[in-house]
Amino acid sequence: MTILITGGLGYIGSHISKIANEKVVIIDNQSNSQLNYKKKLPNAEVFIEDLKYKNVCKIFKNYNIDTVIHLAGLKSVNDSIISPLEYYSNNIISSVELLQAMIKFKINKLIFSSSATVYGNKNKSPLKEDFLTQSINPYGHTKIIIEDIIQNCCASYSNFSAISLRYFNPIGAHSDGSLGDRPKGRPLNLMPLIVDSVFGKKLTVFGNDYPTADGTCLRDYIHVMDLAEAHLICLKNLNNIKYDTFNVGLGMGISVLELIKTFENANKVKVNFEFGERRLGDAAISYADTSKFKNRFNWSPKYNYKSMCRDSWSQNKNN
Ligand code: UD1
Repeated sequence: MTILITGGLGYIGSHISKIANEKVVIIDNQSNSQLNYKKKLPNAEVFIEDLKYKNVCKIFKNYNIDTVIHLAGLKSVNDSIISPLEYYSNNIISSVELLQAMIKFKINKLIFSSSATVYGNKNKSPLKEDFLTQSINPYGHTKIIIEDIIQNCCASYSNFSAISLRYFNPIGAHSDGSLGDRPKGRPLNLMPLIVDSVFGKKLTVFGNDYPTADGTCLRDYIHVMDLAEAHLICLKNLNNIKYDTFNVGLGMGISVLELIKTFENANKVKVNFEFGERRLGDAAISYADTSKFKNRFNWSPKYNYKSMCRDSWSQNKNN
């Protein structure tokens, strides 16, 4: 089996590529990755190109691709509010072109990287896959639209099947330290900012007056190795699925302050932080009901918060 991973040089894609048993082909324009892929992913065939119909067709012509894992896309909530059209045009058009190429070449299996953001901020945690989706920013809206488009394809093309994985917050890194969460430019997500704060760039904790035990937001973080493995489980099981959505998270919330404390204890370092204003659009509490994935595939994440913090730090402390 050969799989195509779009956006395969990013944080999640690189971990999937590293642990996949299948031959991996990657298309990635490196817009948000500076991975030295020749060194870090020596077994993958990599095409540094935009996700466009003609580029994908060229790959499908030359490789016997069986399944596509579609991760490519812009992912900053903030940027999507500043430049919504860039998000709609980039994320949606590239997905449609990918699907058109898949249909043309009769490649019928797809795993799509969706996000917990599709639940919006009105649903009550634990969040279940059958809850109504709600867009609260253009980035989240692109995820909802792409899920819908994929579902339409599954309904209309008889052999086409797909899974949308709704990721909660991936953190951590491969334990050999070769891969990690290093976006281009300034990171925006919590864990890389916690790491940076140890080196002196003070972290602002957004809000300490939320209705939670310590006043900071509750999130559901998952080790990126668990998340990568969840894709491989789906790969094995796509034959028995037409279309479905699954949450991938740890299934329990941890507050920003608790995560900071866990990080400090696991790594014996000091996180430099101060409290700031709430960030617009943040839900107070967001964590997954993970029973659907667990029951369907008999699989649960292995890593706890301590190991997530340890691996996030060991990957970054030397870089
Ligand atoms: C965000 C996006 C989500 C996206 C995910 C991964 C929203 C509403 N959701 O999730 O769609 O899939 O990133 O890219 O934006 N925090 C701080 N200080 C910081 C940064 C974060 O206190 O400098 C807090 C946030 O308030 C939040 C938690 O840390 O409570 C996690 O934030 P973040 O890593 O940005 O992820 P989410 O906002 O949960």
